[in-house]
Amino acid sequence: MLNLILFGPPGSGKGTQAERLVQRFSLEHVSTGNILRLCRRAAAGDAAARSDCPPALLDQADRIAAIMDRGELVPDDLVLGLVGDVLAGIPADRGGWLLDGFPRTVPQAEGLVALIGERGLAAPAVVVIEVPDAEIVRRLSGRLVCDRCQAVTVAGEHAEGDPCPACGEGRLVVRDDDRPETVRRRLAVYRAQTEPALAVLRRHYRVVTVDGTGDPDAVAERIAAGLAER
Ligand code: AP5
Repeated sequence: MLNLILFGPPGSGKGTQAERLVQRFSLEHVSTGNILRLCRRAAAGDAAARSDCPPALLDQADRIAAIMDRGELVPDDLVLGLVGDVLAGIPADRGGWLLDGFPRTVPQAEGLVALIGERGLAAPAVVVIEVPDAEIVRRLSGRLVCDRCQAVTVAGEHAEGDPCPACGEGRLVVRDDDRPETVRRRLAVYRAQTEPALAVLRRHYRVVTVDGTGDPDAVAERIAAGLAER
């Protein structure tokens, strides 16, 4: 059983590395950002997204959309409830789970530690991906994502409006929160609210820090090597 928490600023490559880690270790991928974006789309009237947004969040979908558009964080109680429900629904035959984008506040980290203890879950390892701010702004200004499956494409390889190379059903779009002023806000929120959560995780779990620059496959190898170290 391998449980992981992927931790790092917006644009550090959490989603990119999550795809690789999930395949390599047969993990269940739990991305709070992806789930909340489904609720955001439900708020915009997308019927398919409406059935995918967890029912407990559906009546909050307009509020969630407004918060995400500002680059701020969705309230802790909503996100903690969401993660608690998702973890409870993971089939026992999975190799473990990978949390991507959660926890990102001190109360979320404390809530997760308590939940793991209460349910007797295996202690996760925390993977921290470090990338300089200038590189983050450069990456996010070129990012295109699928409006259906949310796959992330590498900047420069595709154009906005192209069919999604992953699922073939969606179109590639610029994420609403990737506008430069919102990226700056998300980075400020990360420094002020999310970085302090790492100290909580560090007190309870093993932390592996990796350089997130360079080829994504090379970053994946650094993560695997860090996890293999005892
Ligand atoms: P979320 O979806 O979690 O976004 P984020 O943390 O801001 O991270 P991103 O998805 O922007 O980036 P990433 O690190 O996954 O990088 P990626 O792999 O895409 O959250 C969005 C919003 O939801 C939040 O702002 C908040 O409002 C809400 N939310 C979510 N979770 C919440 C929570 N727990 N509590 C409260 N609110 C919450 O890579 C970025 C780009 O770089 C891509 O184009 C990629 O191709 C490229 N790239 C990746 N790796 C490399 C590399 N090694 N070299 C060059 N390019 C690379």
